[in-house]
Amino acid sequence: METIKRILRALKPYRGKIVLAMLLQLVVIFTRLISPYVTKRVVNDVITAHQYDMLYPLCTMILVLALARVTSAFVRGMLYERISQNYAWDLRTRLYAHLEDMPHEFYDKHRVGEIMSRMTGDLDGVRGLIAYAFNNAFDNALCFVGSLIFMLSMSWQVTLMVLAVTPIIALMSYRFRKTIRPLFREMREQNAALNTRTQENLAGMHVVKAFVREDHEEKQFKAENRKKLEYDLKATWVWSNFVPFMDVLSSLCTPITLVGSAILTAMDMIDIGTLVGVTGYIWMLTNPMRQLSNIINSVTHAVTSAEKLFYYEDLGASIKEPQNARTPETFRGHVVFDHVTFSYDNQPVLKDITFEAKPGQTIAIMGATGSGKSTLVTLLGRFYDIQKGTLTIDGIDVKKHALKPLRRQIGYVAQESFLFSDTIADNIRYGKPTADMKDVEKSAKVAQAKEFIDHMPSGYETVVGERGLGLSGGQKQRVAIARAVMIDPAILILDDSTSAVDMETEYLIQQELKEVLKNRTTFVIAHRISSVKNADLILILKDGEIVERGTHKELIKQGGIYKQMVDDQMSSAVKV
Ligand SMILES: Nc1ncnc2c1ncn2[C@@H]1O[C@H](COP(=O)(O)OP(=O)(O)O)[C@@H](O)[C@H]1O
Ligand SMILES: [Mg+2]
Repeated sequence: METIKRILRALKPYRGKIVLAMLLQLVVIFTRLISPYVTKRVVNDVITAHQYDMLYPLCTMILVLALARVTSAFVRGMLYERISQNYAWDLRTRLYAHLEDMPHEFYDKHRVGEIMSRMTGDLDGVRGLIAYAFNNAFDNALCFVGSLIFMLSMSWQVTLMVLAVTPIIALMSYRFRKTIRPLFREMREQNAALNTRTQENLAGMHVVKAFVREDHEEKQFKAENRKKLEYDLKATWVWSNFVPFMDVLSSLCTPITLVGSAILTAMDMIDIGTLVGVTGYIWMLTNPMRQLSNIINSVTHAVTSAEKLFYYEDLGASIKEPQNARTPETFRGHVVFDHVTFSYDNQPVLKDITFEAKPGQTIAIMGATGSGKSTLVTLLGRFYDIQKGTLTIDGIDVKKHALKPLRRQIGYVAQESFLFSDTIADNIRYGKPTADMKDVEKSAKVAQAKEFIDHMPSGYETVVGERGLGLSGGQKQRVAIARAVMIDPAILILDDSTSAVDMETEYLIQQELKEVLKNRTTFVIAHRISSVKNADLILILKDGEIVERGTHKELIKQGGIYKQMVDDQMSSAVKV
């Protein structure tokens, strides 16, 4: 009920159109209801009382009523369709905007396929509720009540006979709704699960093929698909059983009414015209009962879908900027980690991290995989909130910064370079769409990407595939570096972003970066000593803790983990 109320509240902007549609519906129902009454008049006045001059106006009336009915029904249908399409558009837009506000944490927990199935199937389900179910429910309710009143005005005895069956129908419907609801919920869940599997397998198809796991994936897919089939069939089974049952029940009304009215006519309690007229209402009275299963079916279906969508909408963005958020126009790039502790869902990842990056300094972070390097740098853009300690940029706690201006000043080259299926030029100027080609080329040059782009068939206009398909790992990384350089950030983060680039090119990139990013604070995560040795501060992370810190020289002197790494890399280089 709460869900339906919420949908109705969201329909407020369409109030005018809805009222109009409902009025038209009243016209439709009224014209339908009046027809048997006219028939009664034809039988009683024209046929029985031989008033043949009445035939012409009565027939004209029937014709006019039919025309009014058809026209109103058409306009009403169009109105409902428009309202529902607009509502779906609204909801889709709002949900998408909301999804953009959701923090990284949300995407860690929800798969793309699941979200997609909500945005398509479930959204359409809710639209159906407005376009058909509401409309249908209103239509049938009016029809039922209206025909009851008309019938009552003709003969209360016949009406009572018909009504005898309704309590049974009400009870049946209640039970049906209770059974079908959990089934629909399972159906929607399974749809999302199947979509997730399909989406993931398609995205990772090259891995599936490389490891010859086609048969395995197919089997898994089949299992999910079968589950979907089973749920669908189960729901259909329940529904199909219910429909004939309701049909029989409502059909019972016809013989009851016919026999009853025949007896009443024979006893001279009603005239022959009333008998014919009453018969005309039987269908109008019983059809809503028959339709009840349909309505319950579609309403329940839509409500379960709406619940899923509203669940997303209600997930508040956990990362919010304060009311009086303040962020300087341009950062100096002074970053201070003060006893920072962070965990993902109670799994501690960073413990008591304290260090300072003065404006313009380069901070290098080294450590084994899983030691928390990437996590540490994602905290800068406040993609996650820390649990203990403070992290300040230019003296302001990141929690007090305005989010967008904060992120706009951080050039982030993530560990996995993600490119959009767009031209290389547009990928490079993604953070600054107004940039002209000269700037794009300049950034590409810094990232040492100019040469390979010039060799591409359409140069900068070459369209790369989804996630950068068609480029090598090192090429993708260089486009990603160019993209970060493009926005001329105050803080640059390079998360293992030259791992797929050869040492010589890496050296060239570093030289160029040093030139363009003078006075910019840079965080470099790398494994090669050559990438970090010129840093102002090198941090060695181990299980989320800083175990060594200092410059290259200082760390060599210390003779710890760093010294060991230097020795290892030297000896392997000599061997080569
Ligand atoms: N989004 C996430 N949700 C939960 N745990 C994560 C997430 N990202 C990383 N982790 C965990 O945090 C730890 C540190 O990961 P990460 O910062 O990526 O390390 P590194 O970059 O040093 O390899 C790992 O144990 C990893 O499993
Ligand atoms: Mg990492």
